Amino acid sequence: MKNQVFILITGFSFFLFPVLLHAAVVDDLIEQYQQQSGETLSAKSGEMIWKKKSREAKSGQVRSCTTCHGKDLRQVGMHQRTKKKIKAMAPSVNAKRLTKVKFIEKWFKRNCKWAWGRECTPTEKGNILMFLKNQ
Ligand code: HEC
Repeated sequence: MKNQVFILITGFSFFLFPVLLHAAVVDDLIEQYQQQSGETLSAKSGEMIWKKKSREAKSGQVRSCTTCHGKDLRQVGMHQRTKKKIKAMAPSVNAKRLTKVKFIEKWFKRNCKWAWGRECTPTEKGNILMFLKNQ
């Protein structure tokens, strides 16, 4: 009986280890936004929100997330005010993307305000991350 328990536990940890390793930072954050949001999140909605153009009230300019990050997420973008280059957003070409919660949250805050004149909601942030993580 003792042996069986041992085998069971060992077997389970071998199963669990890769699963845990794989559970990326971004998935935890999506889970968090999902709970705050209470809505079903989707990459499709995220893509629409990411590309949505709207007039930012204070500047009067039409802006979107693509204004700085560019139309192609695998390419380098450019900050519209400072003209500085922004590394590609797609995790498939830039492995550092979406790996640090603090960084993600800091830039969500700044960029949503800059592009839309307000903070993004948990639903918007969750949808956007669902979209971005598979790019
Ligand atoms: C004014 C230019 C600008 C706009 C517009 C902009 N961003 Fe960004 N974004 C940046 C800069 C600069 C960084 C930080 C530098 C970097 O990550 O290369 C960044 C980083 C990020 C990150 C962090 C990614 C990571 O590596 O973890 C997220 C998430 C993000 N932006 C989301 C958005 C969203 C959502 C929008 C639209 C609401 C948006 N951005 C619009 C300039 C912009």
